Amino acid sequence: MKRKLTNILVTGGAGFIGVNFIRFLLGEGSSKPDYKGRIINLDALTYAGNAASLNSIEKSFGGTRYFFEKGDIGDHAFVEAVFQKYSIDTVVHFAAESHVDRSILGPEAFIKTNVLGTFTLLDVARNAWKDSAGQIRQDVLFHHISTDEVYGSLGETGYFTETTPYDPRSPYSASKAASDHLVMAYRHTYNLPIILSNCSNNYGPYQFPEKLIPLMVLNMLEDKPLPVYGDGKNIRDWLYVEDHNSAVWTIMQNGKTGEKYNIGGENEWENIKLLNALIEIVAKKSGKDVEKIRSLITYVKDRPGHDRRYAIDCSKLKKELGWKQTVSFEEGLGRTVDWYLSNREWINDIRSGEYQHWVEKNYGVR
Ligand code: NAD
Ligand code: TYD
Repeated sequence: MKRKLTNILVTGGAGFIGVNFIRFLLGEGSSKPDYKGRIINLDALTYAGNAASLNSIEKSFGGTRYFFEKGDIGDHAFVEAVFQKYSIDTVVHFAAESHVDRSILGPEAFIKTNVLGTFTLLDVARNAWKDSAGQIRQDVLFHHISTDEVYGSLGETGYFTETTPYDPRSPYSASKAASDHLVMAYRHTYNLPIILSNCSNNYGPYQFPEKLIPLMVLNMLEDKPLPVYGDGKNIRDWLYVEDHNSAVWTIMQNGKTGEKYNIGGENEWENIKLLNALIEIVAKKSGKDVEKIRSLITYVKDRPGHDRRYAIDCSKLKKELGWKQTVSFEEGLGRTVDWYLSNREWINDIRSGEYQHWVEKNYGVR
Protein backbone atom coordinates (compact mmCIF):
# COMPACT_ATOMS: atom_id res chain seq x y z
CA MET A 1 0.00 0.00 0.00
CA LYS A 2 1.27 3.45 -0.91
CA ARG A 3 2.01 5.91 1.90
CA LYS A 4 0.14 9.19 1.84
CA LEU A 5 2.79 11.91 1.91
CA THR A 6 1.61 15.52 1.91
CA ASN A 7 4.03 17.91 3.62
CA ILE A 8 7.54 16.72 2.86
CA LEU A 9 10.49 18.30 4.65
CA VAL A 10 13.54 17.95 2.41
CA THR A 11 16.72 18.72 4.33
CA GLY A 12 19.72 19.73 2.23
CA GLY A 13 17.45 20.53 -0.69
CA ALA A 14 19.88 23.12 -2.07
CA GLY A 15 22.69 20.58 -2.51
CA PHE A 16 23.38 18.28 -5.43
CA ILE A 17 21.00 15.38 -4.81
CA GLY A 18 18.42 17.51 -2.96
CA VAL A 19 18.04 19.97 -5.85
CA ASN A 20 17.57 17.09 -8.26
CA PHE A 21 15.08 15.44 -5.88
CA ILE A 22 12.94 18.57 -5.60
CA ARG A 23 12.99 19.05 -9.38
CA PHE A 24 12.08 15.40 -9.84
CA LEU A 25 9.20 15.49 -7.38
CA LEU A 26 7.75 18.70 -8.82
CA GLY A 27 7.85 17.27 -12.33
CA GLU A 28 10.88 19.13 -13.75
CA GLY A 29 12.92 15.97 -14.33
CA SER A 30 12.53 13.55 -17.20
CA SER A 31 10.07 11.34 -15.28
CA LYS A 32 6.80 12.56 -13.80
CA PRO A 33 6.09 11.17 -10.34
CA ASP A 34 2.58 11.39 -8.97
CA TYR A 35 2.99 13.92 -6.14
CA LYS A 36 0.49 16.66 -5.40
CA GLY A 37 1.66 17.82 -1.96
CA ARG A 38 4.05 20.47 -0.65
CA ILE A 39 7.84 20.51 -0.33
CA ILE A 40 9.59 22.42 2.43
CA ASN A 41 13.29 22.78 1.73
CA LEU A 42 15.37 23.29 4.89
CA ASP A 43 18.97 24.11 4.08
CA ALA A 44 21.75 26.04 5.83
CA LEU A 45 23.25 27.07 2.46
CA THR A 46 26.77 26.00 3.34
CA TYR A 47 29.42 26.21 0.60
CA ALA A 48 27.67 23.20 -1.01
CA GLY A 49 24.19 24.70 -1.09
CA ASN A 50 22.96 27.03 -3.80
CA ALA A 51 19.41 28.39 -3.59
CA ALA A 52 19.71 29.71 -7.16
CA SER A 53 19.67 26.11 -8.39
CA LEU A 54 15.96 26.16 -7.58
CA ASN A 55 15.06 29.54 -9.13
CA SER A 56 12.68 28.01 -11.67
CA ILE A 57 11.02 25.92 -8.93
CA GLU A 58 10.62 29.04 -6.78
CA LYS A 59 9.04 30.81 -9.74
CA SER A 60 6.55 28.06 -10.57
CA PHE A 61 5.74 26.72 -7.10
CA GLY A 62 7.04 29.24 -4.52
CA GLY A 63 4.46 29.92 -1.80
CA THR A 64 2.05 27.26 -3.05
CA ARG A 65 3.82 23.91 -3.21
CA TYR A 66 7.45 24.93 -2.56
CA PHE A 67 8.84 26.71 0.51
CA PHE A 68 12.42 27.50 1.46
CA GLU A 69 13.60 27.77 5.08
CA LYS A 70 17.22 28.74 5.65
CA GLY A 71 18.64 27.21 8.81
CA ASP A 72 20.70 24.53 10.46
CA ILE A 73 19.37 21.01 11.07
CA GLY A 74 21.21 21.16 14.41
CA ASP A 75 19.11 24.12 15.61
CA HIS A 76 16.41 22.42 17.69
CA ALA A 77 14.09 25.42 18.09
CA PHE A 78 14.28 26.29 14.42
CA VAL A 79 13.59 22.74 13.22
CA GLU A 80 10.72 22.42 15.68
CA ALA A 81 9.19 25.67 14.39
CA VAL A 82 9.43 24.41 10.80
CA PHE A 83 7.69 21.15 11.77
CA GLN A 84 4.84 23.11 13.34
CA LYS A 85 4.55 25.79 10.67
CA TYR A 86 4.10 23.28 7.84
CA SER A 87 2.54 20.27 9.67
CA ILE A 88 5.40 18.12 8.45
CA ASP A 89 4.39 14.46 7.98
CA THR A 90 7.45 13.27 6.07
CA VAL A 91 11.17 13.94 6.31
CA VAL A 92 13.65 13.03 3.62
CA HIS A 93 17.01 13.81 5.13
CA PHE A 94 19.72 14.66 2.59
CA ALA A 95 21.51 17.43 4.51
CA ALA A 96 25.09 16.48 5.29
CA GLU A 97 28.70 17.39 4.94
CA SER A 98 29.41 15.05 2.06
CA HIS A 99 32.98 15.29 0.80
CA VAL A 100 35.55 12.73 2.00
CA ASP A 101 38.57 14.99 1.30
CA ARG A 102 37.09 17.77 3.41
CA SER A 103 36.37 15.31 6.21
CA ILE A 104 40.05 14.39 6.26
CA LEU A 105 41.14 18.02 6.43
CA GLY A 106 38.50 19.06 9.00
CA PRO A 107 36.26 16.39 10.56
CA GLU A 108 34.47 18.58 13.10
CA ALA A 109 31.79 19.94 10.76
CA PHE A 110 30.98 16.33 9.80
CA ILE A 111 30.31 15.34 13.39
CA LYS A 112 28.24 18.48 13.99
CA THR A 113 25.99 18.17 10.95
CA ASN A 114 25.92 14.45 10.20
CA VAL A 115 25.78 13.14 13.77
CA LEU A 116 24.40 15.94 15.97
CA GLY A 117 22.24 17.42 13.20
CA THR A 118 20.64 14.05 12.45
CA PHE A 119 20.10 13.51 16.16
CA THR A 120 18.31 16.88 16.44
CA LEU A 121 16.04 16.11 13.49
CA LEU A 122 15.17 12.70 14.91
CA ASP A 123 14.42 14.16 18.30
CA VAL A 124 12.21 16.92 16.92
CA ALA A 125 10.34 14.32 14.84
CA ARG A 126 9.89 12.07 17.89
CA ASN A 127 8.27 14.90 19.84
CA ALA A 128 6.27 16.42 16.98
CA TRP A 129 4.79 13.11 15.85
CA LYS A 130 3.07 12.07 19.09
CA ASP A 131 -0.68 11.46 19.02
CA SER A 132 -3.09 12.55 21.78
CA ALA A 133 -2.32 9.35 23.72
CA GLY A 134 1.42 10.13 23.62
CA GLN A 135 2.13 7.35 21.09
CA ILE A 136 4.30 7.99 18.05
CA ARG A 137 2.15 8.20 14.91
CA GLN A 138 2.72 5.51 12.33
CA ASP A 139 1.26 7.45 9.37
CA VAL A 140 4.43 9.58 9.08
CA LEU A 141 7.91 8.83 7.72
CA PHE A 142 11.53 9.72 8.41
CA HIS A 143 13.58 8.66 5.40
CA HIS A 144 17.32 8.87 6.04
CA ILE A 145 19.64 9.16 3.05
CA SER A 146 22.94 7.39 3.53
CA THR A 147 25.88 6.04 1.62
CA ASP A 148 27.51 2.74 0.69
CA GLU A 149 30.71 4.12 2.28
CA VAL A 150 29.47 3.03 5.72
CA TYR A 151 30.25 -0.57 4.72
CA GLY A 152 33.98 0.09 4.25
CA SER A 153 36.10 -1.12 1.36
CA LEU A 154 35.78 -4.27 -0.80
CA GLY A 155 38.51 -6.41 -2.32
CA GLU A 156 38.32 -7.52 -5.94
CA THR A 157 35.12 -9.50 -5.43
CA GLY A 158 31.91 -9.32 -3.41
CA TYR A 159 29.17 -6.76 -2.88
CA PHE A 160 27.66 -4.71 -0.06
CA THR A 161 24.25 -6.03 0.98
CA GLU A 162 21.90 -4.58 3.58
CA THR A 163 23.37 -6.96 6.17
CA THR A 164 27.05 -6.23 5.52
CA PRO A 165 28.59 -5.11 8.85
CA TYR A 166 29.49 -1.44 9.08
CA ASP A 167 33.21 -0.68 8.73
CA PRO A 168 33.58 3.05 7.98
CA ARG A 169 37.11 4.29 7.34
CA SER A 170 36.96 8.06 6.79
CA PRO A 171 35.61 10.73 9.13
CA TYR A 172 32.84 11.24 6.53
CA SER A 173 31.75 7.60 6.43
CA ALA A 174 32.14 7.26 10.20
CA SER A 175 29.81 10.23 10.73
CA LYS A 176 27.27 8.79 8.27
CA ALA A 177 27.50 5.39 9.98
CA ALA A 178 26.85 7.05 13.34
CA SER A 179 23.79 8.78 11.90
CA ASP A 180 22.50 5.49 10.45
CA HIS A 181 22.82 3.86 13.88
CA LEU A 182 20.92 6.72 15.51
CA VAL A 183 18.11 6.39 12.96
CA MET A 184 17.82 2.65 13.63
CA ALA A 185 18.00 3.27 17.39
CA TYR A 186 15.03 5.67 17.15
CA ARG A 187 13.06 2.89 15.48
CA HIS A 188 13.91 0.27 18.06
CA THR A 189 13.66 2.52 21.09
CA TYR A 190 10.83 4.93 20.26
CA ASN A 191 9.05 3.18 17.36
CA LEU A 192 9.73 6.15 15.07
CA PRO A 193 8.67 5.16 11.52
CA ILE A 194 11.97 5.33 9.68
CA ILE A 195 13.48 3.97 6.49
CA LEU A 196 17.11 4.08 5.51
CA SER A 197 18.68 3.96 2.07
CA ASN A 198 22.38 3.56 1.30
CA CYS A 199 23.43 4.62 -2.17
CA SER A 200 26.54 4.35 -4.29
CA ASN A 201 28.28 7.31 -6.01
CA ASN A 202 25.86 9.68 -7.74
CA TYR A 203 26.62 11.91 -10.72
CA GLY A 204 24.62 14.39 -12.79
CA PRO A 205 23.68 18.09 -13.03
CA TYR A 206 24.24 20.47 -10.10
CA GLN A 207 26.98 18.37 -8.50
CA PHE A 208 29.64 20.40 -6.76
CA PRO A 209 32.92 20.51 -8.69
CA GLU A 210 34.87 19.06 -5.78
CA LYS A 211 33.62 15.55 -6.62
CA LEU A 212 35.34 13.46 -9.27
CA ILE A 213 33.10 13.80 -12.34
CA PRO A 214 32.26 17.54 -12.32
CA LEU A 215 35.80 18.43 -11.21
CA MET A 216 37.26 16.54 -14.16
CA VAL A 217 34.74 17.94 -16.68
CA LEU A 218 35.41 21.54 -15.62
CA ASN A 219 39.17 21.07 -15.52
CA MET A 220 39.07 19.60 -19.04
CA LEU A 221 37.10 22.63 -20.26
CA GLU A 222 39.53 25.01 -18.54
CA ASP A 223 42.74 23.14 -19.57
CA LYS A 224 43.67 22.45 -15.95
CA PRO A 225 45.41 19.29 -14.62
CA LEU A 226 43.19 16.24 -14.05
CA PRO A 227 44.33 15.03 -10.59
CA VAL A 228 44.12 11.23 -10.26
CA TYR A 229 44.67 9.92 -6.73
CA GLY A 230 47.13 7.03 -6.26
CA ASP A 231 47.24 4.50 -9.09
CA GLY A 232 43.79 5.47 -10.43
CA LYS A 233 42.53 1.92 -9.95
CA ASN A 234 40.05 2.53 -7.15
CA ILE A 235 36.59 1.39 -8.15
CA ARG A 236 33.27 3.15 -7.64
CA ASP A 237 29.72 2.08 -8.60
CA TRP A 238 28.12 5.03 -10.43
CA LEU A 239 24.42 5.90 -10.51
CA TYR A 240 22.73 8.76 -12.37
CA VAL A 241 21.14 11.11 -9.81
CA GLU A 242 17.63 10.83 -11.27
CA ASP A 243 17.77 7.06 -10.85
CA HIS A 244 18.79 7.56 -7.21
CA ASN A 245 15.87 9.89 -6.68
CA SER A 246 13.36 7.58 -8.35
CA ALA A 247 14.61 4.87 -5.98
CA VAL A 248 14.20 7.14 -2.96
CA TRP A 249 10.68 8.05 -4.06
CA THR A 250 9.77 4.39 -4.63
CA ILE A 251 11.06 3.53 -1.15
CA MET A 252 9.28 6.49 0.48
CA GLN A 253 5.98 5.40 -1.00
CA ASN A 254 6.20 1.63 -0.80
CA GLY A 255 9.17 0.67 1.37
CA LYS A 256 8.65 -1.24 4.59
CA THR A 257 8.92 0.84 7.75
CA GLY A 258 12.03 0.04 9.78
CA GLU A 259 13.90 -1.45 6.80
CA LYS A 260 17.01 -0.41 4.97
CA TYR A 261 17.51 -0.58 1.21
CA ASN A 262 20.70 -0.44 -0.82
CA ILE A 263 20.61 1.61 -4.02
CA GLY A 264 23.27 1.15 -6.68
CA GLY A 265 24.15 1.56 -10.32
CA GLU A 266 25.48 -1.97 -10.87
CA ASN A 267 28.01 0.04 -12.85
CA GLU A 268 31.57 -0.37 -11.55
CA TRP A 269 34.41 1.66 -13.04
CA GLU A 270 38.07 2.11 -12.21
CA ASN A 271 38.67 5.85 -11.83
CA ILE A 272 41.23 5.99 -14.64
CA LYS A 273 38.97 4.10 -17.07
CA LEU A 274 36.08 6.38 -16.20
CA LEU A 275 38.31 9.41 -16.75
CA ASN A 276 39.32 8.18 -20.20
CA ALA A 277 35.67 7.60 -21.16
CA LEU A 278 34.80 11.08 -19.92
CA ILE A 279 37.66 12.61 -21.93
CA GLU A 280 36.21 11.12 -25.13
CA ILE A 281 32.76 12.56 -24.37
CA VAL A 282 34.04 16.03 -23.42
CA ALA A 283 36.28 16.18 -26.51
CA LYS A 284 33.37 15.24 -28.78
CA LYS A 285 30.94 17.71 -27.22
CA SER A 286 33.35 20.65 -26.77
CA GLY A 287 35.39 20.28 -29.95
CA LYS A 288 38.62 20.09 -27.91
CA ASP A 289 41.45 17.80 -29.00
CA VAL A 290 41.16 14.43 -27.26
CA GLU A 291 44.92 13.88 -26.90
CA LYS A 292 45.45 17.38 -25.55
CA ILE A 293 42.88 16.70 -22.86
CA ARG A 294 44.44 13.31 -22.10
CA SER A 295 47.81 14.99 -21.58
CA LEU A 296 46.27 16.85 -18.61
CA ILE A 297 46.01 13.60 -16.59
CA THR A 298 48.23 14.04 -13.53
CA TYR A 299 48.79 11.32 -10.94
CA VAL A 300 48.89 12.90 -7.48
CA LYS A 301 49.47 11.70 -3.91
CA ASP A 302 46.79 9.25 -2.80
CA ARG A 303 43.94 10.20 -0.45
CA PRO A 304 44.79 8.89 3.08
CA GLY A 305 42.81 5.72 3.83
CA HIS A 306 41.45 5.70 0.25
CA ASP A 307 38.77 2.96 0.01
CA ARG A 308 39.66 0.60 -2.83
CA ARG A 309 36.32 -0.63 -4.13
CA TYR A 310 32.63 0.00 -3.54
CA ALA A 311 29.96 -2.18 -5.14
CA ILE A 312 26.31 -2.38 -4.17
CA ASP A 313 23.97 -5.33 -4.29
CA CYS A 314 20.58 -3.66 -4.79
CA SER A 315 18.60 -6.85 -5.48
CA LYS A 316 16.35 -6.31 -2.42
CA LEU A 317 15.09 -2.99 -3.81
CA LYS A 318 14.65 -4.45 -7.27
CA LYS A 319 12.85 -7.60 -6.15
CA GLU A 320 10.69 -6.17 -3.37
CA LEU A 321 9.79 -2.76 -4.80
CA GLY A 322 10.28 -3.24 -8.55
CA TRP A 323 12.74 -0.35 -8.99
CA LYS A 324 15.37 -0.37 -11.71
CA GLN A 325 17.96 1.98 -13.18
CA THR A 326 16.82 3.68 -16.40
CA VAL A 327 19.79 5.81 -17.50
CA SER A 328 22.84 4.09 -19.01
CA PHE A 329 26.28 5.41 -18.06
CA GLU A 330 26.90 6.71 -21.58
CA GLU A 331 23.58 8.55 -21.61
CA GLY A 332 24.03 9.91 -18.06
CA LEU A 333 27.58 11.14 -18.68
CA GLY A 334 26.44 12.76 -21.94
CA ARG A 335 23.62 14.59 -20.15
CA THR A 336 25.97 15.64 -17.36
CA VAL A 337 28.60 17.05 -19.72
CA ASP A 338 25.88 18.89 -21.70
CA TRP A 339 24.62 20.42 -18.45
CA TYR A 340 28.05 21.69 -17.38
CA LEU A 341 28.68 23.03 -20.90
CA SER A 342 25.50 25.08 -20.85
CA ASN A 343 25.47 26.30 -17.23
CA ARG A 344 28.52 28.51 -17.00
CA GLU A 345 26.72 31.01 -14.80
CA TRP A 346 26.06 28.40 -12.10
CA ILE A 347 29.68 27.30 -12.32
CA ASN A 348 31.08 30.85 -12.19
CA ASP A 349 28.94 31.49 -9.13
CA ILE A 350 30.58 28.57 -7.36
CA ARG A 351 34.04 29.36 -8.68
CA SER A 352 33.83 32.85 -7.19
CA GLY A 353 32.61 31.73 -3.76
CA GLU A 354 33.95 30.29 -0.54
CA TYR A 355 34.33 26.87 -2.15
CA GLN A 356 37.00 27.95 -4.59
CA HIS A 357 38.99 29.79 -1.92
CA TRP A 358 38.96 26.63 0.16
CA VAL A 359 40.11 24.49 -2.75
CA GLU A 360 42.94 26.83 -3.62
CA LYS A 361 44.06 27.07 0.01
CA ASN A 362 44.13 23.31 0.46
CA TYR A 363 45.11 21.96 -2.92
CA GLY A 364 46.72 24.80 -4.84
CA VAL A 365 45.29 25.45 -8.30
CA ARG A 366 42.51 23.02 -9.19
P1 NAD B 1 25.95 18.14 -1.04
O1 NAD B 1 27.17 18.35 -0.24
O2 NAD B 1 25.95 18.49 -2.49
O3 NAD B 1 24.72 18.95 -0.38
C1 NAD B 1 24.50 18.99 1.00
C2 NAD B 1 23.44 20.05 1.30
O4 NAD B 1 23.20 20.02 2.72
C3 NAD B 1 23.85 21.47 0.93
O5 NAD B 1 22.79 22.14 0.30
C4 NAD B 1 24.17 22.11 2.29
O6 NAD B 1 23.95 23.52 2.31
C5 NAD B 1 23.21 21.36 3.20
N1 NAD B 1 23.69 21.34 4.59
C6 NAD B 1 24.92 21.00 5.05
N2 NAD B 1 24.99 21.12 6.39
C7 NAD B 1 23.75 21.52 6.80
C8 NAD B 1 23.18 21.80 8.07
N3 NAD B 1 23.90 21.70 9.20
N4 NAD B 1 21.88 22.19 8.13
C9 NAD B 1 21.14 22.31 6.99
N5 NAD B 1 21.64 22.07 5.75
C10 NAD B 1 22.93 21.67 5.66
O7 NAD B 1 25.56 16.61 -0.81
P2 NAD B 1 24.86 15.59 -1.82
O8 NAD B 1 25.89 15.01 -2.71
O9 NAD B 1 23.65 16.22 -2.40
O10 NAD B 1 24.44 14.43 -0.79
C11 NAD B 1 23.16 14.43 -0.18
C12 NAD B 1 23.07 13.24 0.75
O11 NAD B 1 23.26 12.03 0.03
C13 NAD B 1 24.11 13.23 1.88
O12 NAD B 1 23.49 12.78 3.06
C14 NAD B 1 25.14 12.22 1.41
O13 NAD B 1 25.79 11.60 2.49
C15 NAD B 1 24.27 11.24 0.64
N6 NAD B 1 24.92 10.51 -0.46
C16 NAD B 1 25.57 11.19 -1.45
C17 NAD B 1 26.15 10.48 -2.50
C18 NAD B 1 26.86 11.20 -3.62
O14 NAD B 1 27.44 10.53 -4.48
N7 NAD B 1 26.80 12.51 -3.72
C19 NAD B 1 26.09 9.08 -2.53
C20 NAD B 1 25.40 8.42 -1.49
C21 NAD B 1 24.82 9.15 -0.46
P1 TYD C 1 34.66 11.40 -4.91
O1 TYD C 1 33.89 12.02 -6.04
O2 TYD C 1 35.32 12.31 -3.93
O3 TYD C 1 33.66 10.39 -4.19
P2 TYD C 1 33.95 9.29 -3.02
O4 TYD C 1 35.30 9.49 -2.47
O5 TYD C 1 32.90 9.63 -2.04
O6 TYD C 1 33.78 7.97 -3.69
O7 TYD C 1 35.78 10.46 -5.51
C1 TYD C 1 35.47 9.39 -6.37
C2 TYD C 1 36.77 8.64 -6.66
O8 TYD C 1 37.63 9.49 -7.40
C3 TYD C 1 37.53 8.27 -5.40
O9 TYD C 1 38.15 7.00 -5.62
C4 TYD C 1 38.59 9.35 -5.28
C5 TYD C 1 38.89 9.69 -6.73
N1 TYD C 1 39.27 11.11 -6.99
C6 TYD C 1 40.44 11.38 -7.72
O10 TYD C 1 41.15 10.46 -8.17
N2 TYD C 1 40.77 12.69 -7.94
C7 TYD C 1 40.01 13.72 -7.47
O11 TYD C 1 40.38 14.89 -7.68
C8 TYD C 1 38.82 13.42 -6.72
C9 TYD C 1 37.96 14.53 -6.19
C10 TYD C 1 38.49 12.10 -6.51
